[in-house]
Amino acid sequence: MNQIDIPPVLVTGATGRVGRVVIDQLLDAGVPVRALTRRSEAAALLPAKVEVFAGDLTVPESLDPALSGAGAVFLVWTAPPQTAAAVVERLAAHVRRVVFLSSPHQTPHPLFQQPNPMAVLHADIERLIAATGLESTIIRPGMFASNSLAWWAPAIRAGEVVRWPYSAAESAPVDDRAIAAVAARTLYQDGYVGGDYVLTGPESLTQAAQLDAIGDVLGRRIAFEEITPDEFRSLWEGTVPSSAVDMLLAAWRAAIGQPAYITTAVADILGTAPRTFRQWAVDHAIAFTEGS
Ligand SMILES: NC(=O)c1ccc[n+]([C@@H]2O[C@H](COP(=O)([O-])OP(=O)(O)OC[C@H]3O[C@@H](n4cnc5c(N)ncnc54)[C@H](OP(=O)(O)O)[C@@H]3O)[C@@H](O)[C@H]2O)c1
Repeated sequence: MNQIDIPPVLVTGATGRVGRVVIDQLLDAGVPVRALTRRSEAAALLPAKVEVFAGDLTVPESLDPALSGAGAVFLVWTAPPQTAAAVVERLAAHVRRVVFLSSPHQTPHPLFQQPNPMAVLHADIERLIAATGLESTIIRPGMFASNSLAWWAPAIRAGEVVRWPYSAAESAPVDDRAIAAVAARTLYQDGYVGGDYVLTGPESLTQAAQLDAIGDVLGRRIAFEEITPDEFRSLWEGTVPSSAVDMLLAAWRAAIGQPAYITTAVADILGTAPRTFRQWAVDHAIAFTEGS
């Protein structure tokens, strides 16, 4: 098919960790891309071939120009929940297909089974999508490998002790690039309508082992101090919403003594094994040594 015949895919969360890479993957596959952002200056951060639209998920009618003439949407929801129903309704009025970035809240593993507002929101959006008749695919990554950039990189860069709770809690961090590659593949290739995929990294690692892997890559031991949940709450107060902190603490506490849940979905869909956390750390080593 000539590129001119392919309707564009609208990528929401286009400036975020996953959406930004979804854009590159779609462009590589020859798919025309539209990007949604609330920030006019963000256009400069995106590839020149992308058609950038201003829009805000909390103002559903602001999406209409970006949706008009689009064929599919990659939906990332980090906004408050109030406008989700109106937005999904608008998607259904304009496009045929949606791929939603959700989470593994249905997976029977303690790491994913702690009650939290994000899981409730994701489940609500999935129900809204199902009720519209949109052709949909749900992708459910576990812990992103890149969380460690926000969690640990500032202390590691500063040569400070990493103060963290539940060092024995296990997870299978998944590389954002794998999440984005799966999302893109399910957007541009046939065969994924109705698909529901839990995406994980290839190995179960304690948080301590993840820090060791980063230290290994940097060629130095990372000083670590185990702190209590209350110390952790105080440390992150004012930086991260308390509901997010509570969600993480509950998940890690429940995961102690349990190997992480691991799927083969990334390899099944992409045909290549997902990168290990160590490989992710090699590729992002500079973030632990330079910059902010
Ligand atoms: N971190 C994890 O371990 C994990 C695991 C499973 C699932 N998830 C899910 O992954 C999603 C986050 O993906 P991410 O990390 O790629 O995102 P991110 O890096 O946090 O970026 C957020 C994106 O959302 C956009 N955005 C925020 N509010 C918006 C609004 N009101 N209207 C329009 N766009 C808005 C931002 O765009 P602009 O600022 O340019 O407007 C930005 O592109 C969340 O739903 C999270 O629950 C995360």
